[in-house]
Amino acid sequence: MPRTSLTRSPAWRALAAQARNWRALHLRDLFAADPGRFERYSHSACGVLADFSKQRIDDQTLQLLLALAAERGVSERLAEQFAGKKVNFTEKRAALHTALRAAASAPRDVQRTLKRMRQFSEELRNGKHGNDGKPLRDVISLGIGGSALGTALAATALADGEGPQVHFVSMPGAPLKRLLAGLDPASTLVIIQSKSFTTQETLHSAGIVRQWLTQALGDQAAAQLAAVTAVPEAARAMGISDESIFPMWDWVGGRYSLWSAVGLPAMVAIGPSRFDELLAGAAAMDAHAAGSAASGNLPLLLALIDVWNLNFLGASSRAVFAYEPGLDLLPDWLQQLEMESLGKRIDRRGKALRYLSGPSLWGGRGTEAQHACFQWLHQGTHDMPVEFVACAAAAAGDEGSHAMRLANCFAQSSLLMRGVHPEETGAAGALAAHQSLPGNRPSTTLLLPRLDAASLGALLALYEHRTALTAALLDINAFDQYGVEHGKRLAGSLLPALSGEPVTMPDASTAGLITHVGKNFKP
Ligand code: F6P
Repeated sequence: MPRTSLTRSPAWRALAAQARNWRALHLRDLFAADPGRFERYSHSACGVLADFSKQRIDDQTLQLLLALAAERGVSERLAEQFAGKKVNFTEKRAALHTALRAAASAPRDVQRTLKRMRQFSEELRNGKHGNDGKPLRDVISLGIGGSALGTALAATALADGEGPQVHFVSMPGAPLKRLLAGLDPASTLVIIQSKSFTTQETLHSAGIVRQWLTQALGDQAAAQLAAVTAVPEAARAMGISDESIFPMWDWVGGRYSLWSAVGLPAMVAIGPSRFDELLAGAAAMDAHAAGSAASGNLPLLLALIDVWNLNFLGASSRAVFAYEPGLDLLPDWLQQLEMESLGKRIDRRGKALRYLSGPSLWGGRGTEAQHACFQWLHQGTHDMPVEFVACAAAAAGDEGSHAMRLANCFAQSSLLMRGVHPEETGAAGALAAHQSLPGNRPSTTLLLPRLDAASLGALLALYEHRTALTAALLDINAFDQYGVEHGKRLAGSLLPALSGEPVTMPDASTAGLITHVGKNFKP
């Protein structure tokens, strides 16, 4: 454990001075002065190229950031995590999602569960019949947050069209109703994904779907239910048989759980062998993160640049755009990973932080976002780091639109960096000012070789380690999430009030809102 507090560390103080020097610099000039800037500040690991040359860094800044990492012992902290230490120090748990992709050296429970998952998904993909003798053509996965985002991302990115179609439902309501209206209960299997088996949205959806199945199948309905949970007795209480219940362990955080049985819907959609490639891609990035020297350690370099942008250059947000349709869900998955992990305000000593903990993260799809928020990114008064994620190679038959996406992706990051001087606009006077772009807006571009399982696994593991290293740098716990749990509990206590039951109100505003609803909209 470092002896000094973060902001008193020598490297932190030197970086604060370094940040003041950056006020007078413009990236456009740095590129003009250094033709080798791309080579110097881009780095590949496990096939993923990270071009961070458009970030506001130079050799001296990087050296100071690496010195900060060394002073704070972040590499040792990552080693403790990999070794199964209780790095989740508030809940006194390990964070061993890396063990889920350790193949033959994985714990026996993990290997046993993976074997069961493979058998379960192969049977479905080979036309397993439901109770009415019909092949099961649809799988509904009910879950939210970490019990949905990663598995849906992998399924969307890598589905091969074989076997049942997998549908992801995170909340009850009209979309679920519309989905059920179009499916045949006799040929539908439902997987309830909930570590706690107490999440309101998931359980409410499960009740709706169970009733839908029961109306068609009677007491055979439970045979077409499966569950992934840390509370198997709750699943059994629903009539789900043990061979259709898959475990979740307390040493795997929800937002880090794609690699566990939470990945079952994805395995149905992409097949066991491709799921194994996903695990292998992540394992390759684990080896890189654990074994590479700091100066060539990609997750560490990206974490250091995040801390530099956040705590020294004043960027309290980061925007991420995926320029590959199969990665449409990446910003959603990343938002939960980073904001649930880094959205903390108390350090490991129990003291309130005196620096910013983690950026707000948002984003979307390229090139669609260029018809919306990129105006703000180019000409607004905010100066925010942007991240671009794309694939070098096109999927077969997609070459034309792929080239268009890459041209747009690269154009955006270049314009953000270079800007457009008034005299380059071709306009005169005030109009030139309106048409100019300031530039000097930093970005990183991450390029996968192609959208395949190994590359996606490496990318997601890269983000997991970047997040954990950022938390280690900032002395916070990346693996608990008390903030959202308070919300879950209070929502549960308010729900009866929406049906007119007497409930103690937390405050007058909530009481007023519920009264308004009660007067106007009966449930
Ligand atoms: O968002 C809070 C959270 O607890 C996540 O950590 C988790 O992934 C999600 O809610 C769903 O929780 P559960 O899997 O217990 O339903």
